[in-house]
Amino acid sequence: MSSRQNVAPNDLSAFWMPFTANRQFKKAPRMFVKAKDMHYTTSDGRQVLDGTAGLWCVNAGHCRPKIVEAIAEQAAEMDYAPAFQMGHPKAFELANALVNIAPEGMNHVLYTNSGSESVETALKVALAYHRVKGDGSRFRLIGRERGYHGVNFGGISVGGIVTNRKMFGTLLTGVDHMPHTHTPGKNQFTRGEREEGADLASELERIVTLHDASTIAAVIVEPVAGSTGVLIPPKGYLQKLREITKKHGILLIFDEVITGFGRLGTPFAADYFGVTPDIMITAKGLTNGTIPMGAVLVTSEIHDAFMQGPEHMIEFMHGYTYSGNPVASAAGLATLETYKDEGLLTRGAELAKYWEDALHSLKGLPHVIDIRNLGLIGAVELQPIDGAPTKRAFAAFVKAFEAGILIRTTGDIIAMSPPLMITKAQIDELIGTLSTVLKGLE
Ligand SMILES: Cc1ncc(COP(=O)(O)O)c(C=O)c1O
Repeated sequence: MSSRQNVAPNDLSAFWMPFTANRQFKKAPRMFVKAKDMHYTTSDGRQVLDGTAGLWCVNAGHCRPKIVEAIAEQAAEMDYAPAFQMGHPKAFELANALVNIAPEGMNHVLYTNSGSESVETALKVALAYHRVKGDGSRFRLIGRERGYHGVNFGGISVGGIVTNRKMFGTLLTGVDHMPHTHTPGKNQFTRGEREEGADLASELERIVTLHDASTIAAVIVEPVAGSTGVLIPPKGYLQKLREITKKHGILLIFDEVITGFGRLGTPFAADYFGVTPDIMITAKGLTNGTIPMGAVLVTSEIHDAFMQGPEHMIEFMHGYTYSGNPVASAAGLATLETYKDEGLLTRGAELAKYWEDALHSLKGLPHVIDIRNLGLIGAVELQPIDGAPTKRAFAAFVKAFEAGILIRTTGDIIAMSPPLMITKAQIDELIGTLSTVLKGLE
């Protein structure tokens, strides 16, 4: 018998899990086997309240009927159609539906399969745009410290999380970073956006002075930095970035992978902040986490710049086998319908104050050194254990799971972003349980 046949179906070793402490997990696995609306069911039959919308993606709640049916119907009707030089109606329908909810001017859509691929696509569009306009000396990409833009080479190059970068060689060249907007030890427990700090955007002017605007293609930021621990921009900061980029002919890219689709109580963060970028990156909530799909939205100015030369030529040498996949497109359409039917893209605005008050009620609990919030995003930062960073928050995560709530941790920061269908009673349950967990932490 070969060793392959000896592997039991439930052996955990074959799957090298992503962003997971594999050895620790496999000693004490945490498994979900079912989900419905606001809850997961664990393999031992317990209900767990979803405080994180899966991984910031299940914005409408789990296993919503319209989405489930649309996926099943499309898989039965037409599973796949070639993405290059062929089309199918739902990819076009979804692009139109996206443009209809996007900020004015974001008129064209390129599909991807994830947030990371959306990032790569956006960076490539930005570089190629300048080139097709005859401005090919604009090759630099500017990101921000503590930014997260997925895990592919472009994304980790413009991203600013050291642990995601340090193993992978030289990365992309021609990248620089603005400082992040966080001020540890200052402005703790600010509710929403803080008043001072917009001037941090002027750091972009310093970078422009260093490299010259004529070498810079684009600036990419998350409107609210999520994965690095929920860093809320100071009031006026994004507006200022927009002014500076516009002044210098630099494209502004918003990575809306977590802020898109209602997270801040508006369809996109661009709406919340009243700042329209040139390129908008989405994924996650686009299909409610069901089928992998991302979308990059661009202005007509960018799209039209490519539409030149002989008509039989491909205008942009980029795309994926699964760009606009039929099942993913059906999932996306049904997701946008569910958001619309239930008012979910703006429901966060109604709940934001209640969410904020509930979160900030944790102030004063053991080890809590900061609390941050915006829309339906919240973070509780814990004092790290001396010499063992991340351990305290991870202990909170495991205890929370055992107590029946799903939270997320990054470093010593607990992040929460529940499905937008959450009720006030469920907010109380989530925060109440977290409070008990925090009180029991060492
Ligand atoms: C802002 C941002 N960009 C990109 C990504 C990468 O998305 P994915 O994991 O789908 O590749 C994430 C994922 O959390 C994200 O938060």
